[in-house]
Amino acid sequence: MRRKLVEQFTEEKMAMMDAVIEEYRKIPGALLIILEKVQDVARYLPIELQRYIAWKLGIPASRVYGVATFYSYFSLVPRGRKVIKVCSGTACYVKRAEEIKERLKQKLGVAEGEVSADGEFSIEEVRCLGACGLAPVVVVGEETFGLIDPENVEEMLERVSS
Ligand code: FES
Repeated sequence: MRRKLVEQFTEEKMAMMDAVIEEYRKIPGALLIILEKVQDVARYLPIELQRYIAWKLGIPASRVYGVATFYSYFSLVPRGRKVIKVCSGTACYVKRAEEIKERLKQKLGVAEGEVSADGEFSIEEVRCLGACGLAPVVVVGEETFGLIDPENVEEMLERVSS
């Protein structure tokens, strides 16, 4: 199981993930933090990796899957180093959020849920981000962009690329 994961993630990254699991395995209720830290390394939690974590922790894989699919923070598909979250809530939708998303997809040459060729970006549609007064809203990593004009999407990308 591990050998296959090494092919996918490299030995270095697997060693980092093993260290995380080892560090937290004996702490009750640490599954959430383990998944968080493993995802920081792998950038997503594919089923094979979930099975590996479950095996290392001696718990059912269904428990890991349950947590990984319950929280939107976790992704079962690959993500870019920077995740672009485009709000699709009503306030953002009526202020052309869909157009912003389409421009981003075009500019980066990716479909939703895909990763750009350089591994840098992926685009996700999310529900209301709780900043409707700033609609339309886009979040890139830790940075929030509000009142975006679809014509200025390139400017935003330049800013987050530097
Ligand atoms: S609808 Fe987009 S932040 Fe609320």
